[in-house]
Amino acid sequence: MRFSNDFLDEIRDRLPISRLVGTRVTFDKRKTNAARGDYWACCPFHGEKTPSFHCEDRKGRYHCFGCGVSGDHFRFLTELEGLSFPEAVERLADMAGVPMPAHDPESERKEKERASLTDVMEMARHFFQDCLQGPQGAEARAYLRGRGITSATQQLFRLGFAPDSRNALKEHLATRGVTKEQMEACGLVRHGPDIPVSYDWFRGRIMFPIEDARGRVIAFGGRALAPDALAKYMNSPDTELFHKGSVLYNQAAARKAARERTVIAVEGYMDVIALAQAGIENVVAPLGTALTERQLELLWRMADEPVLCFDGDEAGLRAAWRAADLALPLVQPGRSLGFALLPEGKDPDDLLREAGRDAFDAVVAAARPLADILWMRETAGRTFDTPERRAELEQSLKSLASRIRDESVRRHYAQDMRERVQNFFGTPREGAWSGRRGGFGSRPPGRPGIAAGRLAVSESLARSALVKSAGGIMPLREAAIMVALANHPVLIDEFFDSVEKMPLESADLRKLRTALFDAIAHNPGHDRDALREVIEASEAGEALERAEALVRRARQWPALAEAALEDAREAFQQALHLQLSAGFLHKELKAAEQALANEPTEENYRHLVEIQAQLRNVQATEALIEGFGLLSGRAERS
Ligand code: UTP
Ligand code: MN
Repeated sequence: MRFSNDFLDEIRDRLPISRLVGTRVTFDKRKTNAARGDYWACCPFHGEKTPSFHCEDRKGRYHCFGCGVSGDHFRFLTELEGLSFPEAVERLADMAGVPMPAHDPESERKEKERASLTDVMEMARHFFQDCLQGPQGAEARAYLRGRGITSATQQLFRLGFAPDSRNALKEHLATRGVTKEQMEACGLVRHGPDIPVSYDWFRGRIMFPIEDARGRVIAFGGRALAPDALAKYMNSPDTELFHKGSVLYNQAAARKAARERTVIAVEGYMDVIALAQAGIENVVAPLGTALTERQLELLWRMADEPVLCFDGDEAGLRAAWRAADLALPLVQPGRSLGFALLPEGKDPDDLLREAGRDAFDAVVAAARPLADILWMRETAGRTFDTPERRAELEQSLKSLASRIRDESVRRHYAQDMRERVQNFFGTPREGAWSGRRGGFGSRPPGRPGIAAGRLAVSESLARSALVKSAGGIMPLREAAIMVALANHPVLIDEFFDSVEKMPLESADLRKLRTALFDAIAHNPGHDRDALREVIEASEAGEALERAEALVRRARQWPALAEAALEDAREAFQQALHLQLSAGFLHKELKAAEQALANEPTEENYRHLVEIQAQLRNVQATEALIEGFGLLSGRAERS
């Protein structure tokens, strides 16, 4: 009997090839890296004493560097044991726990039907592609050109155009013998009891063919040309061929590219295409829905630590959090996710156009691990100024860790979160988690006990007299602002007024500000070296040194001397803006809390909620810009 590709794929997916190979060889302990699914052994096909036979779970393939044999699961058994293909399938299905398909004519008919549907999709793809390159595609081509998509890229992604007509595709297919039923089964027409005459599903749209893992077209995405279209993007409906939660756009090509690098998931079709055009080909996108578990599994098949790269807006941040929740139970030793967040208001396509490939690479390189994202979500914008609130934080972190299915990752997470809490609050509190006391987090020398144990989590707490008197805390954003000023003195003049009135939590940095103003007053001109010499010799020298170290560690390059003035200015302005609005909102927040306490009216309550929302917004923006620096509590303590 013929086995369907889906069935064979399922076996390959369920059964790590190392398990199969391991029944015939003993893996070499030194060369093997089991956590990465990377195994070495002496070759079972030719006799040898040193292991040159390699198999890799992620690729589901083996290869011998000695005798050159290679293949997949099925090949391994047919070649090594001389089984026939159906015998190998049966044996492997059993090992993988995949039930053999019943030998019924019905499923064979279905398989044939699917094959005929892919043929129809292929015809539709051709038609759309011809339309884009033909006379009716002029406007669509102009649009793509306007977005910088070259004609070569259009060909590579096989982009097309669906004319604004109710039956252009329908008629095209009908004249080629495609039946009404086939068109409906492909999701290419709208039909139904209330639709007397079915009509083309896509009209007046740029068409993006969506392919399965083998590169066969199984659906389309369509982007409206008209700016007032009801939906900017539309996909094919789910069909026999297409289940949108189990497919990633550009999967087949990205999988190849991901062999060298990791794989990156972005939000949109256009992002994938623009990135590919810029030479970044290891990129996929879900199809307009939140990432599903199935899609995560696909990503993990391509790389151990795929990077999710979301748009720099609230929706992107929410999507990141949702993905973190989805992934958490599924992480394994060596298998996780990275999270890259784009600058405010940008998607990858924007960033690429405005700042180039390097800027995008930098965003990906700055991706944060899953644990950071979870920590940030639990702590961002919240105040932990009472024991109850701190206990609550501990609780929620603990319950997060407990969701991880893999025992050893779970244990490491619990410990990681414990350490974060301890570092965050300054002193380890015995018994807080499991009663075991870690060997870290001993109190920094020379700090007054009480303040050290309660170091500020929120800015409002940090502003309190208690913490101020302890000095010490140096939030990253403030540090970056002051370091930028010291390295690009012209900014001091340009932004004198705002800098002067800007609230600064850090006493040290306030000292540095005074020193900078002083120095500039006495040494007009904007000579960096001269200015720094004065500062370094002053009382504020140490503060500058510390701030600079912090900025360097947080990789806030634009603040450093190496940065071009334009870059420094842009980053500085953004940070300044956030600093000022956060300062203003904190004042408002205090007032609103006070007002509500005095007069618990509905209106006062709403006002408070509104301010809180705005503040969260600033913090979210900041997270996007700073890669979470400030929010993850990474304020520096001396
Ligand atoms: P965006 O709205 O971020 O689109 O949607 P984009 O990629 O920036 O699009 P351009 O640049 O304006 O062309 C991201 C993804 O969400 C899905 C699509 O898959 C899109 O690529 N989407 C968006 C929809 O499914 N429907 C919509 O109406 C909008
Ligand atoms: Mn876009």
